[in-house]
Amino acid sequence: MKIGIIGGTGDIGKGLALRLSDKHEIILGSREASKACEVAEETISTLGGRSCKSLCRGVSNEEAVRDADIVVISVMFQHVAPTLAGINPKYLENKIVISPVNPMGKKDGYFFFNPPTEGSAALAIKKMLPESAKIVTGFNNIAAHKWTLLDEELDYTVAVCGDDADAKKAVMKLVSEVSKLHAVDAGPLAVAGIVESLTPLVLNIAMNNGMKDVGVHFS
Ligand SMILES: NC(=O)c1ccc[n+]([C@@H]2O[C@H](COP(=O)([O-])OP(=O)(O)OC[C@H]3O[C@@H](n4cnc5c(N)ncnc54)[C@H](OP(=O)(O)O)[C@@H]3O)[C@@H](O)[C@H]2O)c1
Repeated sequence: MKIGIIGGTGDIGKGLALRLSDKHEIILGSREASKACEVAEETISTLGGRSCKSLCRGVSNEEAVRDADIVVISVMFQHVAPTLAGINPKYLENKIVISPVNPMGKKDGYFFFNPPTEGSAALAIKKMLPESAKIVTGFNNIAAHKWTLLDEELDYTVAVCGDDADAKKAVMKLVSEVSKLHAVDAGPLAVAGIVESLTPLVLNIAMNNGMKDVGVHFS
């Protein structure tokens, strides 16, 4: 599978590349293709040092979308609209789009959920995509730092919301290929805000209790 990551040079993009590029072709996108190439080379070198192959390359955000079967939107919510506006929408047609995007704010030292009027980032992003694109939430509640600790298992639940059953199934399969991640069907896109709102909760819990990389595990 070809997975294109918009904003692939960021914390989540780097982590996804490290954890997935031994099984899938990871196409890291950036506003500056050279920056994405550097991150791709770092990924290949890190995995090579562990005797693992890595199929990873860096390109522009638009090329990452164009060449992908599945697209991950890995930029902060406020950057999503301007970034998508710079990408030819035909490249997004019929594609599965994963949103790990959590719209959050910080006030008086605490994180809070700060959704757009649509109720969630996922619902707002859906409006920015061609109608045929299939948006699904994924990877919202796992700290980016944890993705890079390759000696540690990712033992978390990933709540997947979406309106297209096949897209949801494909994303749940992809999630389940990573470490000990356990994908669960969390309902339609209409309830994506619940998943997104868990992230400020876990960040506040981590901060208040001196914990690191707090995550969600439903069992
Ligand atoms: N970090 C976490 O622990 C975490 C956990 C779960 C979910 N998430 C979600 O995952 C998404 C990505 O998070 P992240 O921490 O990886 O983000 P990030 O590292 O802050 O940024 C990702 C990339 O966004 C691009 N970017 C920065 N400013 C931009 C701008 N003004 N316009 C367009 N692109 C810009 C940069 O890529 P280029 O400079 O190469 O273009 C950057 O590498 C967010 O929506 C976040 O809510 C994050």
